[in-house]
Amino acid sequence: MKVLLINGSPHANGNTARALKEVADTLAAEGLETETFWIGLKPVRGCVACGQCRGKDLGRCAFDDDVANRIVEKLQTADAIVIGSPTYYGQPAGAFLAAWQRVCFSASTLIHGKPAASVAVCRRGGSTAAFQCLNMPFEMLNSVLIGSQYWNVVFGLSEGECAQDGEGMQTMRTLGRNMAWVVKNLNRPDALPRPADEPWQPTNFIR
Ligand SMILES: Cc1cc2nc3c(=O)[nH]c(=O)nc-3n(C[C@H](O)[C@H](O)[C@H](O)COP(=O)(O)O)c2cc1C
Repeated sequence: MKVLLINGSPHANGNTARALKEVADTLAAEGLETETFWIGLKPVRGCVACGQCRGKDLGRCAFDDDVANRIVEKLQTADAIVIGSPTYYGQPAGAFLAAWQRVCFSASTLIHGKPAASVAVCRRGGSTAAFQCLNMPFEMLNSVLIGSQYWNVVFGLSEGECAQDGEGMQTMRTLGRNMAWVVKNLNRPDALPRPADEPWQPTNFIR
């Protein structure tokens, strides 16, 4: 049982990393395997809606020149997912969002139905809006969205400062325990299978 945590910050060891570490340490203490993946600093392209991923059933983005498909590869062995991002102008960081939208569109089956959670980090405000934005793909990919004792937000500016946010850190640990509980229950031999999906009935409002 492995949980993939994705650090969507340009800082490998910043506050997003610190918040995710609190979740990962808790998951590990609960006996789950974890892997934290940092998206890095290289340029990331946005989705150009070429449709090749779905048209050719690639299962990954047609553009292989940045981190998006590295995330797809990591998702293949993940039983559960935690995404984390700093808050930039009340939104998730652009580079992460650019990659994540392409991952969600091209490799939705690797997210579909899995336990998932988002974490947003900020200095002072806007993290709840970023948190909502991060949750949106999960909420339409049949994810089992994992909550905590508060919204999954932590506060901090300089590197690692969020460790001083006691309630934020506690919220991360509670999130980790909740996720471990759900993942372990879903992997019990007597766990009920997910309900079968109905065939999709696309309706674009005008036809
Ligand atoms: C371009 C930019 C925009 C930011 N916008 C916000 C914001 O809207 N609200 C806020 O509280 N902090 C904002 N911050 C601060 C970061 O969210 C904060 O420093 C966070 O801890 C960074 O996380 P990291 O260390 O993982 O990169 C912004 C920082 C940058 C660089």
